[in-house]
Amino acid sequence: MRIRPQILYCSILLISLATGVASAQNAGASSGYPVAQGKLTEPEHRGKGLYRRYCVGCHGVRGDGNGENAPYLDPKPRDFTQATFKCRSTASGSLPLDSDLYATITRGIHASGMPSWNPLPSRDRSDLIAYIKTFSPRFHEEQPGPALPIPAEPPASAESTQRGAAVFQDMNCWSCHGKDGRGNGPSAHTLTDSRGYPITPYDLTTGSRFKCGESDRDLFRDLMTGLDGTPMPSFTDALKPDQLWDVVHYIRSLQTNHGQDGEAAMVGSKTETGK
Ligand code: HEC
Ligand code: HEC
Repeated sequence: MRIRPQILYCSILLISLATGVASAQNAGASSGYPVAQGKLTEPEHRGKGLYRRYCVGCHGVRGDGNGENAPYLDPKPRDFTQATFKCRSTASGSLPLDSDLYATITRGIHASGMPSWNPLPSRDRSDLIAYIKTFSPRFHEEQPGPALPIPAEPPASAESTQRGAAVFQDMNCWSCHGKDGRGNGPSAHTLTDSRGYPITPYDLTTGSRFKCGESDRDLFRDLMTGLDGTPMPSFTDALKPDQLWDVVHYIRSLQTNHGQDGEAAMVGSKTETGK
């Protein structure tokens, strides 16, 4: 979704809010749902009402990502029954912490149809999380891993950027992301996500925002944990923390407008998509 994303988010959001009420009514009688066993707790029950109002149009009544707007979205809405999440502070393959989900819902996901839900009261956001966790039995069977520690960032420098460029070369980041980070590497057009949908690596030279946050620490975390359900791997075993910071500095050097549009773009996304 490269074309005028803000406008697209807004219109999609309006559609989904408009259709949400209707879908919620139709959904009342669905059977065997949610997968979770019996009675919902009080927060889950509250979350269900909010979900049926705000989320169902994209994520679907069953939480499987097949809401009525899903055909028009790329990337597709998350399938909560898999419990596979891109934005985590936990190790690759591990469940996210509630705080990870809370941060995602609050922030929204840049370059996707997922809006920021910052305008909802914090209790609503917590209850929504309680409810979306009922879609997968994994949340009953497994513990989320602990948050992986993010060491202090060493100062950015020309040397660090240069070392990061070398790592980008050595670790074959370019094969997907392209030599200049524009998302056009030789394997870029062959990539699919875990549900089989085509996925392209984000053009690292545009803007200064990333799916899972926009700070250097967020970027470090992306590289450390990987984005589960996508071809973007975790580099925590292959690279030392200092090398990861070098890569962060290198990626920042690709963003020609980093520091200029960040603030304004963020405020824009909250006010425009959050309504
Ligand atoms: C207009 C469509 C739309 C609506 C409405 C919407 N989402 Fe999403 N959501 C998406 C899309 C698309 C993605 C996948 C983005 C991606 O993979 O980059 C997503 C992803 C997510 C994720 C996964 C984050 C991760 O780390 O993988 C969570 C959690 C989520 N949405 C929660 C919600 C909740 C809660 C609501 C309702 C308050 C909601 N969404 C409403 C489109 C929507
Ligand atoms: C096998 C292909 C592949 C390799 C190798 C790879 N990536 Fe990725 N990367 C992806 C894809 C695909 C995405 C997009 C995921 C998405 O849209 O959810 C991505 C996402 C990212 C993001 C997050 C962008 C965003 O939108 O938030 C960063 C940063 C990144 N990659 C950097 C790197 C670096 C640095 C390396 C090497 C150390 C690397 N990648 C290696 C495929 C790859």
